[in-house]
Order: sequence, then C-alpha cells, then structure tokens
Amino acid sequence: MKIFLDTANIESIRRYNDMGAVDGVTTNPTLLSKEKGHPAEIMREITKLIKGPVSLEVVGIETDGMIEEAHRLTKFGPNVVVKIPMIPEGLKAVRQLREEGIKTNVTLIFSSNQALLAAKAGASYVSPFIGRFDDIGHDGMVIIKEIVQIFANYKFDTEVLVASVRHPVHVVEAAKIGAHIVTLPPEILGKMMLHPLTEKGLNSFLSDWEKITKQYQVTF
Ligand code: G3P
Repeated sequence: MKIFLDTANIESIRRYNDMGAVDGVTTNPTLLSKEKGHPAEIMREITKLIKGPVSLEVVGIETDGMIEEAHRLTKFGPNVVVKIPMIPEGLKAVRQLREEGIKTNVTLIFSSNQALLAAKAGASYVSPFIGRFDDIGHDGMVIIKEIVQIFANYKFDTEVLVASVRHPVHVVEAAKIGAHIVTLPPEILGKMMLHPLTEKGLNSFLSDWEKITKQYQVTF
C-alpha cells in the first residue's frame, strides 16, 4: 500500500520523505490555510520536493473554471494531480481532463456510488473521507470495502485513496481491505513508527552495552 502525506507543511514532508516513507502528497485549501506563505509557492515547493503524485485542489465549482485551474496547477510540475470535488460539474471536468492526459483525484467522496461515477468519468484516484464518517457515528471503512470490491469487479484503473484518516488502526484496516493508498496527517505517520516495547528494548540494549564497556573497556 502506498502512503501519502496529507499536509501542506514543508518541514513534515521533508522529514518523512528523508525516511523514505512518502509516496506522494495530498493538499487541500484547509491544509494550505494552516501554513505561512503564499499558497502557490507552497504548492510549487511540494511538487519539487516529492517525486510521486502531489494532489492540488481546484476551488472553482463550474466545469470550465475547474479546467482552467487544472491547466494552471499542472504547470507547477509533471507530478501534479488535480483534485476535483465530487459534484456533477466536477465529473465533467474529470472527463475532459482525462482526455487531455491530466490526472485527477476526485475528493469529498462519501458513497460507493460517487466513487463508481468518478471512476467512470476517468478519475485516477478517488478520495473517500473515512474519519468524517466515523465522526458522525458511522463506520467509514464500510465504503472502503465496497469501493475496493467494485473497482476490482470491473477492473477500473482508478486507485482508492483513503482520506480523512484519524489514527493508525485506520491504516491497518485499509491495508487489510487492499486499498491502494492512505493519505495521512504527519502525526499519524509519526505514531505508526512508535511502539513502547521498541523503546523499552532499545533502552535495555543500551544500558547492557554500557555495563559491558565499563567491565571490559570496549572501544570501537
Ligand atoms: O485530504 C482531505 C482529508 O484527508 C480531510 O481530512 O481530517 O479534514 O477530515 P479531515
């Protein structure tokens, strides 16, 4: 399963990219609003930092406007994927952009039918928001299971990009289902690396080594 970072924070992207953990990045207007600096400059920098796909979102809600924005956004780099909202005008834009060879990520997906329509329009990725489902007392993973199965049944090349991830258990569940990608806030990726037994084990290895070096004056 590929791991994307769901952030516009350059420092976090650099940090986790240096660990080889980042296959791509997803952004949105809310994430950009949390950072200091001109959004265009931030988007440009992310596309340079990351070799993999970088989703940049349009803010228009009319088809022609979205397509114009897509043309501007793709100038930031060859790895740009244009994020389009799941609305009828958006599906028209996705279809046209597919014909132009521009990759799209259809966002704000909250049902399997929306995902099916986005795939039929030619989206490269669909982004179901599982955490927002969980927030209102539903199990967001249910639609991930459905979408993965539907895409496999009909051999769509559209990838399921699990978004709105709230904790590491979401990642394990998405991987067990066979979702292609999860996009994670940096804090969740950080939590995935940690385990108290790893820390405890490392501390005892280090203190045992210290005992030996004192006893035998080991140096190398
Ligand atoms: O990429 C957008 C998605 O991940 C949003 O997450 O936490 O705002 O529901 P959240």
